[in-house]
Amino acid sequence: MCGIIGYVGKDNAKDIIISGLHALEYRGYDSSGIAYNAQNKIKIVKMEGKVSNLENKLKDINDLPHTAIGHTRWATHGKPNEVNAHPHKVGNTTLVHNGIIENYLSIKNKLNNIYNFQSETDTEVACALIDYYVKKEKNKLKALKLVQKDIIGSYAFAIIFDDEPENIYIMRKDSPLIVAEKDNNYYVASDIAAILSYTNKYYLLDQLDIAKISDKIYFFDSELNPITKKINEYSGTINDVMKNGFDHFMLKEIHDEVNVYKNIISNYVPNLSIHDLKKNFGNFSKYKKITIVGCGSAYHTGLAAKYLFENFANIETNVEMASEYRYKKIFPKRNELVILISQSGETADTLEAARLAKANKIDTLGIINVLSSSIARESDRVIYCLAGCEIAVATTKAYLAQLLILSLIAILMGYERKLITRNEANNYLLDLTKLQKDTKEIINNKDYYKEIAKDFYKDREMFFIGRNIDFALCMESSLKMKEISYIHSEAYAAGELKHGTISLIEENMVVFGIVTNPSIAPKTISNLKETKARGSKMILVTTKEIANNYKDDKSYKFVITVNNLCPFFQSLTIITTMQLISYYVALLKGENIDQPRNLAKSVTVE
Ligand code: F6R
Repeated sequence: MCGIIGYVGKDNAKDIIISGLHALEYRGYDSSGIAYNAQNKIKIVKMEGKVSNLENKLKDINDLPHTAIGHTRWATHGKPNEVNAHPHKVGNTTLVHNGIIENYLSIKNKLNNIYNFQSETDTEVACALIDYYVKKEKNKLKALKLVQKDIIGSYAFAIIFDDEPENIYIMRKDSPLIVAEKDNNYYVASDIAAILSYTNKYYLLDQLDIAKISDKIYFFDSELNPITKKINEYSGTINDVMKNGFDHFMLKEIHDEVNVYKNIISNYVPNLSIHDLKKNFGNFSKYKKITIVGCGSAYHTGLAAKYLFENFANIETNVEMASEYRYKKIFPKRNELVILISQSGETADTLEAARLAKANKIDTLGIINVLSSSIARESDRVIYCLAGCEIAVATTKAYLAQLLILSLIAILMGYERKLITRNEANNYLLDLTKLQKDTKEIINNKDYYKEIAKDFYKDREMFFIGRNIDFALCMESSLKMKEISYIHSEAYAAGELKHGTISLIEENMVVFGIVTNPSIAPKTISNLKETKARGSKMILVTTKEIANNYKDDKSYKFVITVNNLCPFFQSLTIITTMQLISYYVALLKGENIDQPRNLAKSVTVE
């Protein structure tokens, strides 16, 4: 959700801001802007649309600033146009903002007689509030502290004041912000991707921290006490945020799935033994109930994990969308564990769910990809996904990593509850190496999925049906399809279709049936046939073993098969095939795969 980059130093700030904005564009891409110090005057340049529009506009401007802030926007308040784009300037204050000021209307009403607002944004109101307090207090740090008290909502701000045009002030609440130093150059960013070309060492701003960046970085806590901070190091490299020869980040990230397996095995189960899991994941034996909370694909991972936890570890598991969970009545149980799933670790609803669980004294476990992100820091324990930087808006490798880690937890819980023996558990873990090999084969065979996509990429609608865990996979497959190809698709519980929705099936409509459990395969296959009887084109996605039972049936348009694996891991290879098909459908349609319309990575607003 929106990206922030700032720079104070010796180099050309304009170039640094533009390259940072390109790296951050995946976080929001409907407008962008820059404010910089042009010989002690703040100049602002903004453009609607992609960062390249801003870059083109700046080509004709010869200033060589050494201090600047920049922003790429995902619109929340007000249309994506130039007026609403950041930076905003009110009085002597110029700022960029990530987050949402929830009480902006009441603040606006109070300030309406002092300031003449130009945009529809909450950000301009925050800017005015800062300007108001700075003028009143004549002390910027005190003013920022008062602003923190007035604002309800989330924010990461990078601010330049007219009377200190060479410095940047920053502060945050519930929206990430980092700051880094390299050879007396200082960088501010909402995410490490923006500054990886310069450094991988950075400081994290904590909730309500304020910092001033001038000849060095001065940090203050929320009481304005000067503080020192520890340096964090990002373990990846600049390659993580480059396409490295791939046409799209999404395709690169699907290829990365093989490395996800490698990383997870080498870090968590190097000896492929249950002992590794116990050592690295800790103990789950005291828990009697699990609640899994996440949004979008992370919620879908939870739905798949529910099946694994309940069926193989015999533990009651509920799965909640974070946006619902945070406002519903919850019934905390003794020995309950809330598992928070999030790639970014910054999703606003999931973060609030974590806080709600903690307020109710429920233990929390974060399954998180981005190191030291807010949910990771606020959870009682964390298992990192180790998927590396994910840039494509549609998640692929991080979803896979989440599901793999949850599958491993299910094995561990099954073992702790004496439902599976040490030998069985170790044998299951051996399948991890097969998984890696199978996924590699699927990806090497990607042209096959492109051929399948050619058959229906011009369609307007499709269905994905399945039972139990396969229904969870259908939900993720359907989301992947619709978010990047804009084909309307529905995931449906196979047995539920005939209770109304089957009326939507028309001649030649594609229906995918995902079937991984041999014992209920005939049921889902019958449901697929019911759609075929109404004219659908059936695509069966299944294991080789199940497909073998239906090999004489020629009524399928395509049968996609994956190798048989242990029940804990069977879903994982299926999802890679579905991601590839969605990718190729979107590619054939000519859509903007990495940056689908209306979306942005990392949803830090409600
Ligand atoms: C879909 C997708 C989203 C995210 C969701 C949660 O491809 O990426 O549905 O899964 O916004 O994001 P995180 O995992 O960052 O909490």
